[in-house]
Amino acid sequence: MSALTDSPAWKKLSAHKKSIEKRHMRELFADNAQRFDDFSLQAGPIFLDYSKNLMTDETMSLLFDLARQEKLETFRDAMFAGQEINFTEHRSVLHTALRGQSDTPILSQGKNVKPDIHAVLEKMQNFSEQVRQGKWLGYSGKEITDVVNIGIGGSDLGPKMVTHALKPFVTRKINMHFVSNLDGSQIAETLSKLSSETTLFIIASKTFSTSETMFNAVTARGWFVSRVKNKEFIKQHFVAVSTNTEAVQNFGIDKNNIFEFWDWVGGRYSLWSAIGLSIVIAIGMEAFKELLKGAASMDEHFSRAPLEENMPVIMALMGVWHNNFFAVHSHAVMAYDHYLGLFPGYLQQLDMESNGKHVNRDGETVDYCTGPVIWGEQGINGQHAFYQLLHQGTQAIPCDFLAALDSYNPGCGHHPVLMSNFFAQTEALMRGKTEAEAREEMTAQGLSEDEIELLVPHKVFAGNRSSNSILFKELDPYTLGALIALYEHKVFVQGNIWRLNSFDQWGVQLGKQLASQIQFDLVDNEPVVSHDSSTNGLINYYKRFRNIEGNKLLSCDNDWSSLQEIMEQEFENKS
Ligand code: F6P
Repeated sequence: MSALTDSPAWKKLSAHKKSIEKRHMRELFADNAQRFDDFSLQAGPIFLDYSKNLMTDETMSLLFDLARQEKLETFRDAMFAGQEINFTEHRSVLHTALRGQSDTPILSQGKNVKPDIHAVLEKMQNFSEQVRQGKWLGYSGKEITDVVNIGIGGSDLGPKMVTHALKPFVTRKINMHFVSNLDGSQIAETLSKLSSETTLFIIASKTFSTSETMFNAVTARGWFVSRVKNKEFIKQHFVAVSTNTEAVQNFGIDKNNIFEFWDWVGGRYSLWSAIGLSIVIAIGMEAFKELLKGAASMDEHFSRAPLEENMPVIMALMGVWHNNFFAVHSHAVMAYDHYLGLFPGYLQQLDMESNGKHVNRDGETVDYCTGPVIWGEQGINGQHAFYQLLHQGTQAIPCDFLAALDSYNPGCGHHPVLMSNFFAQTEALMRGKTEAEAREEMTAQGLSEDEIELLVPHKVFAGNRSSNSILFKELDPYTLGALIALYEHKVFVQGNIWRLNSFDQWGVQLGKQLASQIQFDLVDNEPVVSHDSSTNGLINYYKRFRNIEGNKLLSCDNDWSSLQEIMEQEFENKS
């Protein structure tokens, strides 16, 4: 047993679970007419109803005890204060400082981070205004019409999700593109639509060494130089966002075109930093500041509200309850909002890269489940795809349902009908349908006794399936900022309960390491024998049947400058 599962608060929850698992939420609602009022709250623009979770007052009180036992408030305050809580990388975790509205100094390694934040924001503002107003001109004097953000992970998912979510606020004068995939098809498809005269590339990479991003950046540069035949023009068409200014300059980007950020901003928490440059170009600095303000309002709520009235804390504890005491290790996020279509994918990195870990802060292997599998979709599409499993499958997967009260495109009655589905689904998951109800329904439909007997087991819904409903007035920048910060803090709280460092990501290294070795195996067509039989077999199958011509660049071994020249030559030959 670990110290956590052996702790008083954990043991009390385990005992309590045995009594509550026999209850049905139908009864809990019938017993307490105030249940909705008791278990719902507003934090800034966000309303949360968590009453449709299998829990009682006692459950909540035991969960708050667990949070206190794990010194949640102390860890939270340490994060906001800039302490090096990411101890495996010796870093502060200060994405909250990027959106903080006060000028009170915040120190990371003894240095106030505020002046640098303001300076970069100002630089982003000046640059983005020039681009948006058509004053930043391409090499031939034309305005920028297309911006391509090249990045991956946090340098892609956040800006892409926000730009999509705030589409009604995005300028129609500039087309935004996001390229992350190392499959050359994505950049090829993107470039095929663009003109070198009017395209601006943002190379977004915290480390400026991520191979997916560097390959795509080199490809873009090769495409550009082969067309314009003058490397001087790179200045007007390439900018970079990075902590690694030296590598950016080695790549050939002008030092004035570097938007800096700092190692105390984690990749998956970086959309608030200069990584948000594509967002600022899309929606303008005023709207970006609203996004920051919305997030700051959630920071304020998280840092000040008592745990019992603290939205991120409550959402996190509900997750812990299902994951650790009901052994459901999956969590679904259902957006009833077209513009939140990329939100579940964004949350996957935020949550799974933060809390998908099997050792605690003391380096001990844990004996409890940590981060769940996060997945999701547009809810209305999911209803016609996988909701069958949510309603009648063998796992009771907890879900978050998200919707706006008002749509930017209400259509001809689309929105109320969409919302009727939103309300119906959580009700159906909670209530289910009893055998008696199913029989009654079929009798009313005039079905024969035999037919009823045949169908009744298939028509029963156990119900008692937990969900959170999250509502907001409309998806504007302020609200989106608050919503993202809500989930960031939820992830923080869960990581704290599970005694994890939520801010490193060593788990992504092994695959990267092996891939960089395997690149050498793929240079020629000689069979390899150095791996296990499966990996050898797959590599050798690939080598035997591939077209070697299309793979020759791999021999360059990440030497970006020679790769750039080869790329330029490649494009030259093709054109
Ligand atoms: O996937 C690992 C990771 O390091 C993420 O944490 C990060 O967001 C992504 O790669 C991209 O990293 P970079 O911005 O340094 O290119």
